[in-house]
Amino acid sequence: MKIKRSFTIITVLAAAVTIIVLASFNEPEPPLYTNLKVLPKNISSKDLQSIMADDFEDGIGVSCGFCHANNKDGHGLDFASDAKPEKEIARSMMRMTLNINEKYLKLKHPKIGDAALIISCTTCHKGQPFPDGADPK
Ligand code: HEC
Ligand code: HEC
Repeated sequence: MKIKRSFTIITVLAAAVTIIVLASFNEPEPPLYTNLKVLPKNISSKDLQSIMADDFEDGIGVSCGFCHANNKDGHGLDFASDAKPEKEIARSMMRMTLNINEKYLKLKHPKIGDAALIISCTTCHKGQPFPDGADPK
């Protein structure tokens, strides 16, 4: 009787441990980025970094701080913040770029940063923030 009871206890404990282990495997990873409205929310850090550094920084001829606001403590940039209007302008430029490729150039499933894009930021900007020569500042 005693043996049977401890066997039951062990079985219940083993089941509990199994459930906890399985549940922790299924727990979703917290998202890397918290404020993406145009790019896919599950984008890899490699893909995001290459869009920011190659397509945006080099393609438009600016640094990260052209679009991204400073951290409140003055150290570094707050990448998730929408405080700088340039970031929202860049979002509408992204939507426009996707729209031109899909609607007018009939490219299926266009993605920012994809080499398959027919028109990209660089096509118009050629390394300049104001391709029309008008710098309002
Ligand atoms: C031309 C403007 C522009 C430049 C330059 C730029 N970014 Fe961004 N960045 C954006 C926009 C717009 C988004 C949001 C995209 C969206 O909503 O899908 C973003 C999003 C991000 C995010 C995700 C933040 C979050 O948690 O949502 C990171 C990180 C980031 N940028 C890093 C950088 C770095 C590092 C650089 C410089 C190498 C850089 N960016 C240069 C426009 C820019
Ligand atoms: C079809 C041409 C075209 C494409 C493609 C394009 N842009 Fe632009 N962009 C312009 C023009 C023209 C201006 C200048 C507007 C002005 O003078 O107010 C501009 C201005 C900007 C500015 C400066 C806004 C400001 O007033 O400070 C940013 C930032 C920008 N674009 C980001 C991007 C990004 C990022 C992409 C790619 C996702 C992109 N653009 C793709 C034509 C384009």
